Amino acid sequence: MRKGTSGISERYRTAIHIAREAGMFIKRNCGLVRSVTMKGCSNLVTDVDRRVERLIIERVRRRHAGDAVLSEECGDDGREGEYRWIIDPIDGTTNYFRSFPFFCVSIGIVQGREVKAGAICDPLRNELFHAAAGSGAFLNVKRIRVSAVSRLSESFLATGFAYGGGAHSCANIRRFERFLKASLGVRRAGSAALDLAYVACGRFDGFWEMGLHPWDTAAGWRIVEEAGGIVTRFDGTPFTLDADDILASNAHIHSHLSETLEA
Ligand code: IPD
Repeated sequence: MRKGTSGISERYRTAIHIAREAGMFIKRNCGLVRSVTMKGCSNLVTDVDRRVERLIIERVRRRHAGDAVLSEECGDDGREGEYRWIIDPIDGTTNYFRSFPFFCVSIGIVQGREVKAGAICDPLRNELFHAAAGSGAFLNVKRIRVSAVSRLSESFLATGFAYGGGAHSCANIRRFERFLKASLGVRRAGSAALDLAYVACGRFDGFWEMGLHPWDTAAGWRIVEEAGGIVTRFDGTPFTLDADDILASNAHIHSHLSETLEA
């Protein structure tokens, strides 16, 4: 196949390969951060974020030269390719910086407005979550499905708090309290992409957050839906990558979650 002319299945394979390689890179460098800077209030970026992002983009360019790239640290590369790679080199950077073992590499591939494939690599647990549209979702080589939990009172949930506090955080603290009372438990572990992957494989039954970016959600969105889950806005309307809020679930408790978020 000629460079730059292949379709989504070739890119899906590339994404899996790169996510694994990038995962190994961040694992090797965990605890060895050389420099850290702040992007706004409480949002860290380490030299490892930048180095692994360069590695990922270099690999994408080498195999799919005409594709566009949107990545967390470099932003939009301004290209107009049919496919756009949406990259979070380390989702959970604060965790990574403090060696708290919950972070990942997240890579989504968008065609038009649809995320066609995604790969999320947790290198510490050797877990690679991945999916392509219409092909199901996988954890390494095993097919995954969302959970069957259908009662809010039995649900195990996750959320996150956008950097910088502000109105989003205040509103989410109230929601957090509501869900703490209504569910089995709520975790705030610090990596939205992994939270989504955990919904896909049934470890969590639902996840919500405000103020996320396309690189936090692109891959996870595809993986949750391929695992049988649903991803929408809080009010149940369709999710888009530029939406300001996201609600992902196993589908069974989706309306309960949406009602509680909107109450
Ligand atoms: C962050 C994580 C975190 C979420 C933040 C994100 P980053 O991504 O996903 O869970 O609460 O809103 O920005 O900055 O570590 O890639």
